[in-house]
Amino acid sequence: MNRRRRIYEGKAKVLYEGPEPGTLIQHFKDDATAFNAQKHALIDGKGVLNNRISEYIFLRLGEIGVPTHFMRRLNMREQLIREVEIVPLEVVVRNVAAGSLATRLGLEEGTQLPRSIIEFYYKDDALGDPMVSEEHITAFGWAAPQEIDEIMQLALRINDFLVGLFLGIGIRLVDFKVEFGRLWENDQMRIVLADEISPDCCRLWDIATSDKLDKDRFRRDLGGLLEAYQEVARRLGVFTDNRPVKGLGPVLVASNPSVNGKPN
Ligand SMILES: Nc1ncnc2c1ncn2[C@@H]1O[C@H](COP(=O)(O)OP(=O)(O)OP(=O)(O)O)[C@@H](O)[C@H]1O
Ligand SMILES: [Mg+2]
Repeated sequence: MNRRRRIYEGKAKVLYEGPEPGTLIQHFKDDATAFNAQKHALIDGKGVLNNRISEYIFLRLGEIGVPTHFMRRLNMREQLIREVEIVPLEVVVRNVAAGSLATRLGLEEGTQLPRSIIEFYYKDDALGDPMVSEEHITAFGWAAPQEIDEIMQLALRINDFLVGLFLGIGIRLVDFKVEFGRLWENDQMRIVLADEISPDCCRLWDIATSDKLDKDRFRRDLGGLLEAYQEVARRLGVFTDNRPVKGLGPVLVASNPSVNGKPN
C-alpha cells in the first residue's frame, strides 16, 4: 500500500497530495458534524454518496462554464482536484428562509425570500465562522473587491443552475454553502469553485412531502440521513455502486416520493 502524504484533515474530508504538482486527492469521510463539531457521528456510506453527488454537480456546472477544481473521480470515496488557495469565506446563497437566517430575522422557516440573498462567513472554526460583510472582507484583505464581484456572480449562476436542476427532480433548493479558491495558470489568476456541493452543505426539501433531504436530518435528530442522501443521488441519476455513471441524467419525479422509498 503506497503511503500518501496527508495535507489536511477536516471534519468531513481528508486532502492528500496528488500525483502531479498542483493536484490534490479529496477523500470523503463518513463523519457527520454540526454546530461547529460539537455534535459528531459516523454515518456509514455518507462519504461515498457525497463523493458521487458532488462529482455529478461539479461536472454539470463545468458544462455550463463554471470553473471548478474538479478533475476526475478516482474511486468510491476520492476525487482528483486542482489545488487552489482557498478564499477564507463560506459563501451562502439563500432562496428560502431557514436555519440561522430564520432565527436571526424572526422569519418563519419556508418563507420565500424576495430574491436570492448571498451571505459571507469568515472561515475560522475557533470563532465559529462569524458572518462578515464586504467591508470586513476588503478591510482585512480576505478577498479583493473584484474577487468578491466574481464570487457573487459565480454564486448566483450556481444557484440558478442548481435551483432548476433540483426543481426537475422534485426538490426545493432552500440554501447552500460553497467555497471558492484562487487558481494560477501562466501568471493569470482566476476564481474557481472548490470544496464540495452535497446534501451536507445544502438544504433540500422534497416539494411533494416537505421532507428534509439534507444534513438537517442530523442537526435536528430526524434520523434517516443516509436514506435521504440516497434519495437525492437516485433522483439525480447518480449510481451509488461501482458502475460508471452513464448519462442517465436526472429522473423526473412524478408523484409523492418518500424518503424511505427503496433507492436502486
Ligand atoms: N481545491 C482545493 N484546494 C485546497 N484546499 C481545498 C480545496 N477544496 C477544498 N479545500 C479545503 O479542504 C478542506 C476540506 O475538508 P473539510 O470540508 O472536512 O474541512 P472542514 O472541517 O469543513 O474545515 P474548514 O473549516 O477548513 O472548511 C477545507 O478546509 C476546504 O477549504
Ligand atoms: Mg468543509
